[in-house]
Amino acid sequence: MLDAAMPSGLLADALAGLAASPKTLPCKWLYDAEGARLFEDITRLPEYYPTRTEMLILPQASAAIAAACGPGVAVVEFGSGDGSKVSVLLSALESPSAYVPVDIAAEWLDAAAARVAAEQPGLAVLPVVADFTQYFPLPAELPAGPRLGFFPGSTIGNFTPDEAVGFLRRAREVLGHGARMVLGADLVKAPAVLEAAYDDAQGVTAAFNLNLLARLNREAGADFELASFRHEARWNPVLERVEMHLVARRAQVVTLGGQRIGFAEGESIHTENSHKYRPDRLRQLAEAGGWRDLALWTDPAGLFSVWLLEAA
Ligand SMILES: C[S@@+](CC[C@H](N)C(=O)[O-])C[C@H]1O[C@@H](n2cnc3c(N)ncnc32)[C@H](O)[C@@H]1O
Repeated sequence: MLDAAMPSGLLADALAGLAASPKTLPCKWLYDAEGARLFEDITRLPEYYPTRTEMLILPQASAAIAAACGPGVAVVEFGSGDGSKVSVLLSALESPSAYVPVDIAAEWLDAAAARVAAEQPGLAVLPVVADFTQYFPLPAELPAGPRLGFFPGSTIGNFTPDEAVGFLRRAREVLGHGARMVLGADLVKAPAVLEAAYDDAQGVTAAFNLNLLARLNREAGADFELASFRHEARWNPVLERVEMHLVARRAQVVTLGGQRIGFAEGESIHTENSHKYRPDRLRQLAEAGGWRDLALWTDPAGLFSVWLLEAA
């Protein structure tokens, strides 16, 4: 497995984020093995409409995507997670040359690569552990030929709009001339639907968010008391995003990396953004990132969008 940019900066990122005002932690650290397991549980929750809606749209779009791509494309999936969405594309494409899942969560990547290799015998599967917030090279063994990027799950919404443009530019550079990209993006909708999707009745999303503090305890020697923080999902109507926070239930001091970090009662750590997009806004971001849109699909309820983009 290519280990292009395996990040080692959990402690450094946490110290910087917790020294900032307001306090933050980067969402890429949510996905250790436990975070990945919890995220898979989230995708099956009744309140969490994005996964099942995207999986409704993709089969309807896949024949048109395959026709636009032609034979022999290599599929590069950014943030592949469990790799469960790519099968529908790989099955529709004409003789895909390879599948390159890219993820920061190494254990999850191994499992996804093994699963796709078993489902698509004969397909070259070349996993890459990398942080896609930075440039990373594709594996040298990747056959020459056209590339199709795949960025599902509205992971693009975890970036600020400026970061999303930066990602799109980088993806264009990584994928090369003539690339296409299938992008899944969540749409703006009623705040109650959005807040429920990020704060479910069973508390799985709360456990996913709190696992970030547990991870800092496990891997960075912190002493967060998990019961002293609570999960909160807030719709920000100005920036059109759901924000996940961990809110201190009481004033407290936490030790991390030899430093003492004070929390006031009610003070929050902002852990994740999930921006929701109106189609015109997403089109603007794609264009600013060097892509033009060839097609857009949505579900009948207008919950989610799937885009086919072409490098401009
Ligand atoms: C919201 S999940 C989506 C998973 C899957 N693609 C889906 O659609 O269900 C985000 C995925 O991106 C990965 N990820 C998050 N930040 C990353 C980063 N900076 N670099 C690489 N992978 C990242 C996570 O490990 C996780 O697999």
